[in-house]
Amino acid sequence: MKVLLGVTGGIAVYKACELVRRLRERGHEVQVVMTASAQRFVSPMTFSVLSGRRVGTALFDDVDPEIDHIRLARWPDLILVAPTTAHSLARFALGMADDLLSTIVLASEPSVPLVLAPAMNTVMWENPAVRRNLALLQELERVSVVAPSEKLLACGETGTGGLAEEAAILAAVDAAARA
Ligand SMILES: Cc1cc2nc3c(=O)[nH]c(=O)nc-3n(C[C@H](O)[C@H](O)[C@H](O)COP(=O)(O)O)c2cc1C
Repeated sequence: MKVLLGVTGGIAVYKACELVRRLRERGHEVQVVMTASAQRFVSPMTFSVLSGRRVGTALFDDVDPEIDHIRLARWPDLILVAPTTAHSLARFALGMADDLLSTIVLASEPSVPLVLAPAMNTVMWENPAVRRNLALLQELERVSVVAPSEKLLACGETGTGGLAEEAAILAAVDAAARA
């Protein structure tokens, strides 16, 4: 499959590096698109080397016809966003298109599965605004959400909000592809 991996700006970005490797080991092509915040955590170069492809990093700057938003929106068989921040979740729920990743999500066909793996602080995860955005997204047939796990979070608090285990994310990708 052609998997577009959206990476948004949470502390779990480093785990997405391993995900690229696991997806490629399974024979998938992986095109990474990073939000501006994600690039504050891990360099696009790391993802570029791991994926073997140029990483999409911006909607306006550095426009490359090979990785413009419409071309990228037509490319994937499936879009996986891991980790998904509260902010990007809100963007997707509201149909916003103010950066490369959200524009790709909005411009992709509704038949393309969208697998979201949220990761955030527990209080954020339980915030009514996040619950509402999540509920809006779950109304869409294309969307599946890999629930975050309960663990000791990077912020030092324990609770639900940690990025789901790699195996659960890969299983959700397989399930969404089969559906
Ligand atoms: C150190 C640090 C860790 C963060 N971790 C998370 C996180 O795990 N989840 C989250 O939703 N936001 C997290 N944030 C906040 C996001 O980076 C911020 O909301 C940002 O606007 C998200 O942008 P994006 O969705 O475009 O990547 C973190 C911020 C910092 C500075």
